[in-house]
Amino acid sequence: MKVLVIGQTSQVGYEVCRILSDKGISWHAPDRAELDLSRPNQIRACLDRHQPDLVINAAAYNNPVKAENEPSRCFSINRDAVAELADCCQRQGIILFQLSSYRVFDGTKQEPYNEKDPTNPTGVLGNSRLQAEQQIRERCERHIILRLSWIISARRPNILRRLAERMLANKEVYVTPDQLGCPTPADDAARIIVAMVQQLDCGAQVWGTYHYATTESVSESNFAEVLIAEASQHRDLNVRKLIMANIESREGIKPPANGTLSSNKVLNTFGVHARPWRSAVARIIREVCDQKSSPP
Ligand SMILES: NC(=O)c1ccc[n+]([C@@H]2O[C@H](COP(=O)([O-])OP(=O)(O)OC[C@H]3O[C@@H](n4cnc5c(N)ncnc54)[C@H](OP(=O)(O)O)[C@@H]3O)[C@@H](O)[C@H]2O)c1
Repeated sequence: MKVLVIGQTSQVGYEVCRILSDKGISWHAPDRAELDLSRPNQIRACLDRHQPDLVINAAAYNNPVKAENEPSRCFSINRDAVAELADCCQRQGIILFQLSSYRVFDGTKQEPYNEKDPTNPTGVLGNSRLQAEQQIRERCERHIILRLSWIISARRPNILRRLAERMLANKEVYVTPDQLGCPTPADDAARIIVAMVQQLDCGAQVWGTYHYATTESVSESNFAEVLIAEASQHRDLNVRKLIMANIESREGIKPPANGTLSSNKVLNTFGVHARPWRSAVARIIREVCDQKSSPP
């Protein structure tokens, strides 16, 4: 099997490529010069050139705040490029494995979201992700859409790094007690993705939409407390106080209050088990603290 990975520099794409290499699966990841998703004409050329059996799209316009100010760029990368990708995959008999997000939901449900729950995105970013999913379902028969919860790693911006950076720099850090998610290490998401890809390579005909998230949900404020406990073992933190600020008090676009996802369907279909996040957080926070070598 030959895999094309779009978004190799992303948190998840980077780990997917690493695991594909470990497993001896052949892959290619175009850089931005070869494939810029805001230039849809490059998509067909890239697929023609590499003739993959399966495409993993880990690239996305991912900034919810900026998306409100530049919706056309967000929709062009997240929806229009994905529609073109889906068309090309369908035409060439390629499997499309698309990553998506809890942001397709409005976050008002009290339990983890499953795949049958009605979508209702708020904001430009969530709408662009949902419309991308719809384009794929209409255009490409052999597809997998995998929605993920909060992705964390020591690389690139994410909720863990944002909180850690504020704790290193500030005495008071604002956190949200009513925003829930399942922190999902990028390498754990990649483990699931590659396991699913291997089963598709063995002929599993299980197209459709799936969720993956780690086993334990946590509020942003409780997650911040875990991070303080871990990070203070490695660095002197400036933070003295967490200030609770409900989602409603946030200015501008608000994240879904509930970003937790149920992994039951992916377990029942692919036999892949969700893991807890706590031990991975200890490792990631150590890496983040090691990167920040200058005193806070
Ligand atoms: N981060 C989260 O908390 C989260 C939560 C749920 C779901 N997800 C989804 O999971 C997937 C992976 O997320 P992530 O956090 O690993 O991603 P990420 O670190 O934010 O990386 C985004 C990727 O998209 C690429 N990209 C952006 N614009 C592009 C363009 N015009 N052409 C080609 N590539 C472009 C970036 O390339 P450059 O490095 O060149 O900019 C980068 O590789 C995405 O679909 C994301 O929406 C993420």
